[in-house]
Amino acid sequence: MDIDKQNVSLGVMEKITSLAKRRGFIFQGSEIYGGYQGFWDYGPAGVEMKNNIKKEWWKYMVSEQENVVGIDAAIIMNPKVWEKSGHLKAFTDPLVECKVCNKRFREDSEDSISEHEKTHKDEKDIWTKAKTFNLMTEVLLGTTEPKEKSYLRGEITQGAFVNFKNVVDSNRVKIPFGIAQIGKAFRNEITPGNLTFRSREFEQMELEYFVKPSDGESKETFEYFKEMRKKWYESLGIDPKKLRFHDHEPDKIAHYARYATDLEYEAPFGWSEFEGIHHRGDYDLKNHGLTYKDNLTGEEFTPWVIETSGGVDRAMLFFLIDAYTEDGERVYLKLNPRISPYKVAVFPLLANKPELLSKARDVYKDLKANFNVVWDDRGNIGKRYFAQDEIGTPWCVTVDFESLDDNTVTVRDRDTASQERIAIDNLSEYFQNRLRK
Ligand code: GAP
Repeated sequence: MDIDKQNVSLGVMEKITSLAKRRGFIFQGSEIYGGYQGFWDYGPAGVEMKNNIKKEWWKYMVSEQENVVGIDAAIIMNPKVWEKSGHLKAFTDPLVECKVCNKRFREDSEDSISEHEKTHKDEKDIWTKAKTFNLMTEVLLGTTEPKEKSYLRGEITQGAFVNFKNVVDSNRVKIPFGIAQIGKAFRNEITPGNLTFRSREFEQMELEYFVKPSDGESKETFEYFKEMRKKWYESLGIDPKKLRFHDHEPDKIAHYARYATDLEYEAPFGWSEFEGIHHRGDYDLKNHGLTYKDNLTGEEFTPWVIETSGGVDRAMLFFLIDAYTEDGERVYLKLNPRISPYKVAVFPLLANKPELLSKARDVYKDLKANFNVVWDDRGNIGKRYFAQDEIGTPWCVTVDFESLDDNTVTVRDRDTASQERIAIDNLSEYFQNRLRK
């Protein structure tokens, strides 16, 4: 029986978690010591996929744009940055505490709260009123006591603002222009969960786009980036029916934003934020005392900022969920080849035939010059297809006895399981063309 992709949501998180570990995508952080809540390690397939996502993002948001430049700021910044940015006061989540066992939960994490209530079935009124809890992660620096308190950045964003003047002075950028960045952020999340969805250490990919202070122009830019970001996820294969925008209610909006929209994905655990698009107005530059001078007109003003802020880990998780497909006996990740960890797997039909091995090694080495290729000579061909399907490798190449005679190989397609014979000399061109589609 074919199982429709839409109908696999039951238990899909368990299936994805198990596949992610089995195939080397995502491991529990510090697993041999029992793990560490909210921290994850990426395995060989995971790091390839994560790098592909970042590469695609950079190409789309920076390289293909005329007026966007990149930076890579330090994770730890002068603590004054966080004072001025408002994070030390306002970067908070509301939490409730269980009066019986003092465990704390995010007020909006309804699932965890109702799960916890089951452990105190006989008690009534177990929750305290919601209190706010700061998400910044403290670090202590220096060698003499008292050590200096600093913070791991809670958003990568501030690096773009504090370098605003450096970028303007060292580049030919003119308003409107953007500063893009990808990097790690850290949050002392109260209830991390759903695999990497809410972690304590994660990566963000952000664009801070500076415009003239104007309601009309900034609204237009906001709408433009909303659609642009949605298109990016769709172009990499996310089912458009599972994407929607959700405007922030005024009482839930981040302290720095005038208005904001989340791009949401319909995950097995409900509609969830993929990425935030925020109108930050002049909030940050003004707080850091930074302005912009138009060299032509001499006009000096504080630019307004439209921000697109996505999570790399969250994007990867949703790409995995969206790609997870059960088709009869077969399980495969229908990943867009641009983000799949490997583009091609090369097999010798039999691992114990030196002539097949040697020919297959030559094919592998040739393809490796242009593509991310993986080698597999374990078990039988069926098992190798099974493994590559679960990793999401779009094409498998098998070198068999016919290959020795006519210099052709079998290329098997992940999504259709169909096979065709292709001349070894034409393989690179064949895959280039398929990747362009
Ligand atoms: N600079 C704005 C900012 O940081 P945010 O909505 O707090 O905005 C942006 O975060 C994105 O970062 C989210 O949409 C999500 O993809 C990712 N993100 C935030 N917190 C996260 C967490 N604890 N674990 C994984 N990803 C997270």
